[in-house]
Amino acid sequence: MPRSIILDTDPGQDDALALYLALAAPEISVHSVVSVAGNVPQPRVTDNVLALLSLVGRDDIPVYRGCELPLIVEQYTAEYVHGDTGIDGADIPPSARSAESKHGVDHIIDTCMDADDNSVTLVPVGPLTNVGMAIAKERRIIPKIREIVWMGGAFDEPGNTTRLAEFNAVVDPHAGAIVFNSGIDMTILPLDVTHKALFPPSQITRLREHDSVVAHACAGMIDFYQQYDMDKYGWEGAPMHDPCAVAYLIDPTLFTGRRMSVAMEYMNDDEMGNTYERTDGSEPNATVMFDVDRERFLELLVTSWCSL
Ligand code: BDR
Ligand code: CA
Repeated sequence: MPRSIILDTDPGQDDALALYLALAAPEISVHSVVSVAGNVPQPRVTDNVLALLSLVGRDDIPVYRGCELPLIVEQYTAEYVHGDTGIDGADIPPSARSAESKHGVDHIIDTCMDADDNSVTLVPVGPLTNVGMAIAKERRIIPKIREIVWMGGAFDEPGNTTRLAEFNAVVDPHAGAIVFNSGIDMTILPLDVTHKALFPPSQITRLREHDSVVAHACAGMIDFYQQYDMDKYGWEGAPMHDPCAVAYLIDPTLFTGRRMSVAMEYMNDDEMGNTYERTDGSEPNATVMFDVDRERFLELLVTSWCSL
């Protein structure tokens, strides 16, 4: 049986790539998608999710509009990486469909409350605002959640938004702290691993050579958003941040990591959004991934996108 997931996302080219990876995978069933303000504001992230799904004929998947703003800190978006639309590089027509009328946070709560204990998989690949809000509003969802698989954070690797903090972490550190302190088991794909998951130009060529609208959309998006990291780090390729979270669910053997007790800094201004290992002897609450089998990972991405 495929594993049912709720994808919580802020597209974002790499969010779009993660969504397409999930849709292509027989190991995963996308139960619903919740949007969250992150790379670009609401309602654009919601419109992007709807458009991305329409492009692949998946208007059957319900989309819920989630939070508009972080819980406490000022909104910070990343058009400087992703372009004004968040998914610049692909010319994807808007969807004729609208999001469901229920709020994304209530959708997460209701889905969990209707589920068996230890059965729900949440895959947030953006700021943790919706998940943090859901836990704060209805703590009885905690035992329902089997695992939260989150792309975010930075441990040995420096931050990509501040000195210590990764984007998804620093955009809403208070929501992150709620999630990290909830006792829910997490799998974290931080910059330590996603910065090793680079998608080289030769693979973009492979996508372009494939005769499919989706493969070309993926190529266009990667082409656009690799520019930021290439300029900043001098890399040959874009980091596949969010696809790492989905790839982990498809094939966990692609990644290696270790159990840790992880916390999120939400008080000290200089370190806001820093994810760090607790040293107080507390029980591990997360598996943090540090390495990826890049060749197998790239093959999974390209063959998946070309299959849609
Ligand atoms: C994360 O932030 C966003 O820019 C990406 O979509 C990814 O989720 C990487 O730091
Ligand atoms: Ca994202």
